[in-house]
Amino acid sequence: MHVLIAGANGQIGQHLLKAMADSKHEARALIRDAEQGAKLQSLGATETVVGDLEQDCSEAMRGCDAVVFTAGSGPHTGPDKTIDVDQNGAIRLIDTAWKMGIRHFIMVSSMRAEEPENGPEKLRHYLHAKHKADEHLRASGLSYTIVRPGKLTNEPGTGKVSVGEKLEFGEIPREDVARALLAVINEGPTGCDGFDLISGDSPVAEAVSMFVRPAS
Ligand SMILES: NC(=O)c1ccc[n+]([C@@H]2O[C@H](COP(=O)([O-])OP(=O)(O)OC[C@H]3O[C@@H](n4cnc5c(N)ncnc54)[C@H](OP(=O)(O)O)[C@@H]3O)[C@@H](O)[C@H]2O)c1
Repeated sequence: MHVLIAGANGQIGQHLLKAMADSKHEARALIRDAEQGAKLQSLGATETVVGDLEQDCSEAMRGCDAVVFTAGSGPHTGPDKTIDVDQNGAIRLIDTAWKMGIRHFIMVSSMRAEEPENGPEKLRHYLHAKHKADEHLRASGLSYTIVRPGKLTNEPGTGKVSVGEKLEFGEIPREDVARALLAVINEGPTGCDGFDLISGDSPVAEAVSMFVRPAS
């Protein structure tokens, strides 16, 4: 499959490119700055394309079979950028995928985005933005999987995770999130809505495969 990675220069994005380098898939890295391209190609991107999620990215998506959204405005910008990127950037990309005939969308959301009002107060704005993007994806008509990791760490991945509809809050290394994303890509379009994801005892591919169901 040809997969567009939105947020490819991010921390999960770079782990995903490395994981995809040894896979049968082609990774197209969506970047904001052309100078990021050489590094990402050395990690495993098959190609790079410059685009901004706050604008139209349809040309960047042409010819892709699937999209992974792992972008985010990050902790160093204000709440307006959370709306612009995490919410509206994701929604724009979902709509563009539909328009371009790309039918498989994998969203990196967040644990607790299902019930933002129950999250910690300082994260509620972010969780609401993620929630709105997830709900838009559910209503889009696309085949999708919403991956909801717990608190991300930069520990080396263990390759062992826990996957479930609603798990007790926990942590997970970014490297293991990337492995789970590759496992979802490998499953192809599925009938699975999505899952919480934290560190656990099950090998990633096995845990993901047991949870997702092929689309009917
Ligand atoms: N932090 C947590 O504990 C946590 C928990 C659960 C889920 N998540 C989610 O995990 C995902 C990825 O996390 P991460 O740590 O890998 O994030 P990260 O390192 O901050 O990477 C985010 C990427 O998004 C890109 N980006 C930002 N605005 C953009 C725009 N307008 N157009 C195109 N690209 C844009 C950035 O590009 P540049 O490189 O050009 O800046 C960056 O590469 C996010 O969706 C986040 O919400 C985080």
